[in-house]
Amino acid sequence: MVTSPQIATSNALIPSHLPRNLTAIFIGATNGIGETTLREFARFTKRLAPNVIFVGRAQEAGERIARECKSLNADGEFTFLKADVGLLKGVDEGTLQTGVETEEGPSKIIAFRGHGASMATLTMEHLAKQYPNVSFIHDFPGPVKSGIARGPGVGMMIMRFMGSILGPMMNIPLEESGRRHVYLCTSARYPPKAEDKSSAVPLGEGLLIAKGTDALVGSGVYTVDEHLESGDEKVDAVLASLRREGMTEKVWKDAESEFVRITGKTKIQVG
Ligand SMILES: NC(=O)c1ccc[n+]([C@@H]2O[C@H](COP(=O)([O-])OP(=O)(O)OC[C@H]3O[C@@H](n4cnc5c(N)ncnc54)[C@H](OP(=O)(O)O)[C@@H]3O)[C@@H](O)[C@H]2O)c1
Repeated sequence: MVTSPQIATSNALIPSHLPRNLTAIFIGATNGIGETTLREFARFTKRLAPNVIFVGRAQEAGERIARECKSLNADGEFTFLKADVGLLKGVDEGTLQTGVETEEGPSKIIAFRGHGASMATLTMEHLAKQYPNVSFIHDFPGPVKSGIARGPGVGMMIMRFMGSILGPMMNIPLEESGRRHVYLCTSARYPPKAEDKSSAVPLGEGLLIAKGTDALVGSGVYTVDEHLESGDEKVDAVLASLRREGMTEKVWKDAESEFVRITGKTKIQVG
């Protein structure tokens, strides 16, 4: 477990270990965990003049958050990009498919519901092979009081009701979750597979480099819980069995065929 004081110490060291003018992209940062992580990132990168791009659908919230971040970090650039990442046609605005049912037709990723989390991890493993100098972290944030249940419908109403009863006992405060996510993005605890030439905040006392999804230390893809600890042996075993079944390739092939069906291309050049 990485404790709150360890996270606070590490985040406070960000200005002395990360480069000036670093670029950060946040997908889904107009509410909840993404918004709070963005705001905490702005707070902790004050002297670094970061160039931040963040994505969401809510224009008004995006503009408000950009202003708030600028007031927290006057040297930073905070650019809101309005895009629906549930649609592949939003991809050329700098985003990726999320796998929900959309006007472009039901994404086949829906078929994997229930296995969704493992499939996301396997997709990261596939991408990590192509980009070994990038570190991939699939994290479970734990219960966080956010805007996740703000939508219409009975399901959301039930979620809000359950949240109002159980939330006070279980919820991780939103700001704490934001600080944890800033830590995940900046700490040397989760290095990429390739020799790590990037900047990161060094491990603090008593902390070790995390175990990757292939059960090897520092192997570039991590699945972590709300305490920022890697999955246990059971998680390793499930992932190993899915890999043996060739699921990594199947998931990627499936996603790629959806890409081609909707866009007519296998890749979209961003920027
Ligand atoms: N809160 C929890 O307890 C909890 C627990 C486990 C996992 N999670 C996961 O953590 C993630 C963040 O959750 P949250 O609680 O912070 O939710 P949230 O408050 O609903 O925030 C979701 C963010 O994603 C954006 N977004 C959603 N759909 C989008 C789309 N199609 N295109 C572009 N942006 C989109 C929303 O912005 P717009 O509305 O502006 O588009 C918003 O900024 C989710 O993946 C959730 O499943 C949360």
